[in-house]
Amino acid sequence: MDRTQIVIPAADMERQREYTARLAGVLARPDRAPMALVDTYGCQQNVADSQRIMGMLREMGCGFTEDPGRADIIVINTCAIRENAEKKVFGLLGQLTHAKEKNPDVVICLCGCMAQQEVVARKVKASYRHVDLVFGPQALWRFPELLYETVSGRRRVFSIRDEHGSIAEGMPVVRESAVKAWVSIMYGCNNFCSYCIVPYVRGRERSRESAAILAEVRELVEAGYKEITLLGQNVNSYGKDLAEPMDFADLLSEIDKIPGDYLIRFMTSHPKDAGQKLFDTMARCGHVAKQLHLPVQSGNSRVLKEMNRGYTRETYLEKVRYARSVMPELVLTSDIIVGFPGETEAEAMDTLSLIEEVRYDALFTFIFSPRPGTPASRMPDPASRAEKQVWFERILDAQNRISGELHRGYVGRTVRVLVDGESGDPAWPLSSRTNGGRLVHLKGDTALVGQYAGVKIVDSNTWALFGEV
Ligand code: SAH
Ligand code: SF4
Ligand code: F3S
Repeated sequence: MDRTQIVIPAADMERQREYTARLAGVLARPDRAPMALVDTYGCQQNVADSQRIMGMLREMGCGFTEDPGRADIIVINTCAIRENAEKKVFGLLGQLTHAKEKNPDVVICLCGCMAQQEVVARKVKASYRHVDLVFGPQALWRFPELLYETVSGRRRVFSIRDEHGSIAEGMPVVRESAVKAWVSIMYGCNNFCSYCIVPYVRGRERSRESAAILAEVRELVEAGYKEITLLGQNVNSYGKDLAEPMDFADLLSEIDKIPGDYLIRFMTSHPKDAGQKLFDTMARCGHVAKQLHLPVQSGNSRVLKEMNRGYTRETYLEKVRYARSVMPELVLTSDIIVGFPGETEAEAMDTLSLIEEVRYDALFTFIFSPRPGTPASRMPDPASRAEKQVWFERILDAQNRISGELHRGYVGRTVRVLVDGESGDPAWPLSSRTNGGRLVHLKGDTALVGQYAGVKIVDSNTWALFGEV
C-alpha cells in the first residue's frame, strides 16, 4: 500500500482532538474529575498503546484509578498470543458485570489484539452485553471518536474492521516512569510464523519516518529519560517500507548521535533478519545496550521450518557466535515454544541442547497454544499435554541452572546500573538494571532513582542480582 494511505492525515488527527474536547464536556462532573481505569495485558507494544489511551483520557479530563468501583470508564487492553491470556480477560469481563450492576453509567471498553478477532467480538456482542465499546489496535487513534459515539449515542460500538493498519503521529501519552520510556518504531508483522496470531490482529508491517522517531527520542533524552526501548514485532524489518534508504542498524546509528547520558534498548529482533551489520552497529554505538532478545523458538531445524521461521539451528548459532565475537559482554535472551504440533521428544531435546550450547542469560518458555485461524492450529498434534509439560520442565530446569551460574559469575564484580525505581522491599529498597538489562536489587538511598550508579554485586539467585552502591 501507498504511504499516503497509511499515515493518518493531520486533519484526521485534529478531528480526534475535537472529539476529545467534546468528551471533556460530556464526561465532566460537578463534584469531581471523571475517573478511568486502564488494565493492560500482553507485550510492551500493548503497554505503549495503553500509555496513548491514558494520554487521550487525560486530555478528556480523566484522573486514574485502579478500583473498578470508582471508575467511570474502564478500558481493558487485551492480548491474544495464547489461550491463557484470553481466558484471563473473559474472567475479568465476567467480574465486571457487578461493576456495571452497581454503576450502570460506567463505560466498559475492550481493545487490543483480542478485540481485533471477529470470533471474540461476536462472543462479546452476544454474551457480554455490559461491554459498551470494542475496538482493535488499528483503531486506537480513533478512540476519542469511538468513545464519543458510545457515550453520546448511549449505544454499543464495535470497530474491528479487518484493517491493514496505519501510522498515527502526535497522539498524547502518559508515561508511567520518568526514567524509562517506550518508543514504537514500527507496527504490525509480515512474518506469519505458523503458530502466531500477531500478523492477523496487528496488520501489516509499517515503519514510522526516522525523523519522527529521532525527534521523539531527542525529546525524551532532553526531558531526562535514561532508558529508551525501541519497539516493534521485528525491529530488523524497520525501513523496508520507507522511501528513505534506512534500515534498523542505520536508525540505531542515527539515534546514537543524540548527545546525553542514556541507553537504547530494542525488541524484538527476528533472527532471520538480524545480521552482521546490526551486531557491528550495536558494538560500535555507545548508547546502545549490549543486550539482545533473539527468540529462537526451537533448536530443531525441521520444527523451525514448520514454524516458518526462516533460519536453521546452524544459521542461528552462527549469528550468536558472531554477535558474541564483536560484543563479548552481550546479554542474550530468547523465547521458546515447547510442543509445537508434531514435535517429538527428540526434537524438544534439541531445543534443550541448543540452550546448553548458547547459555542464555534468561529465557521465556511457552507451551504451544493453538490460535484459531493460524496454520499451526490445523496441524496434527499427537503429543499429550502431560508429555509437553515434562519437556517444558526439563528445559526450565536447565535454564534455571544456567541463569543461576551466569548470575553467580557477577558476584564480587562492580557494575554500572541505572536505578529505575523503589522496590518496596526494605532489605533491598531499590531496583536497577545493568547495561545488559539484568535486574539488580539494591541497597542504597532512594535519592538515586533515575541515576546511574556503580554497584558491587554481593549475591545472586536464578532471577536477579543483589548489590550495594
Ligand atoms: N515478534 C516476536 C514475538 C512476539 S510473541 C518475535 O517474533 O520474536 C512473544 C512470544 O510468544 C513468541 O516469541 C513465542 O515464543 C510466543 N508465542 C507466540 N505464539 C504462540 C503460541 N501460539 N503458543 C505459544 N507461544 C507462542
Ligand atoms: Fe509472531 Fe513471528 Fe511476527 Fe513474531 S515475527 S510477531 S512470532 S509472526
Ligand atoms: Fe499479545 Fe498483541 Fe502483544 S497478541 S503479545 S499484545 S502484539
